[in-house]
Amino acid sequence: MQLFPVECPRCREKLRRNGETLNCSGCGIIYPRNSGITDFLTSLSLATELMGICDYFDNFAVNYDSMIVTMVEELKCPWWEYSELIERVMVEARKKLIVDLGCGTSFPVGSFIPADSHYLGLDISFEMLKQSHSLFEDNSNASFWRIDVERLPLHDNSADLCLAFFSFNVFINLEEIIRQANRVLKADGEFFGNIALTLPQENSLQPFRRISAQQLKKLLTGLGRRGRELVTERRGDILFFHLK
Ligand SMILES: C[S@@+](CC[C@H](N)C(=O)[O-])C[C@H]1O[C@@H](n2cnc3c(N)ncnc32)[C@H](O)[C@@H]1O
Ligand SMILES: [Zn+2]
Repeated sequence: MQLFPVECPRCREKLRRNGETLNCSGCGIIYPRNSGITDFLTSLSLATELMGICDYFDNFAVNYDSMIVTMVEELKCPWWEYSELIERVMVEARKKLIVDLGCGTSFPVGSFIPADSHYLGLDISFEMLKQSHSLFEDNSNASFWRIDVERLPLHDNSADLCLAFFSFNVFINLEEIIRQANRVLKADGEFFGNIALTLPQENSLQPFRRISAQQLKKLLTGLGRRGRELVTERRGDILFFHLK
């Protein structure tokens, strides 16, 4: 069931569900659905750098969850503390449209989505999305889109909560993605996520780039709506942010 309107990322016309596919009434494009994942990238080409990132995560998708646990511990945050902090915010997120930007395998956040909310997992990597999809036994409150989040096909003011766990360290055009998140967030919407303040050890997650706490603050407050409060919480070398 489609609970929220979706627009064509190419021409911004409304998309209609036709069985398993989403069809554009404007440009006529048909977005297919494979293994429960709607693929918006069939008609949009990815820049070479983004294709490299996509290949990287496609290759590591099966082992990604154990890699992320290792990374969190390397960043001096015990795993239980990391997942507990995410759970604490997510249990409050009832009856919301939750949009996870660069959702990867949705681990661990996928386990904490309230049953009366809808989780929309967005990623460019089909293999990561396949892992994410398998985490949700009953998919009635979850959707998965293969898409570049720089081109979010959601209406303005439609989402209640945007998430971004470690994906700010990987996004190429972070500024544009934060702008898009602010566009789709409702006036009382919230943005919750985290960044790694130091880079993981060599041989682990290569596409990571360094972002400082100052850069993050500047981006979130500079591009966000006025009147929102930015709360940050540091655990080891991981900085959680909550814009609300
Ligand atoms: C470091 S992983 C984070 C995954 C997950 N959020 C987590 O908590 O571990 C970054 C993810 O962002 C995705 N990604 C990178 N650039 C993207 C883009 N422009 N649009 C959508 N997904 C993107 C990658 O494929 C990867 O799955
Ligand atoms: Zn279209």
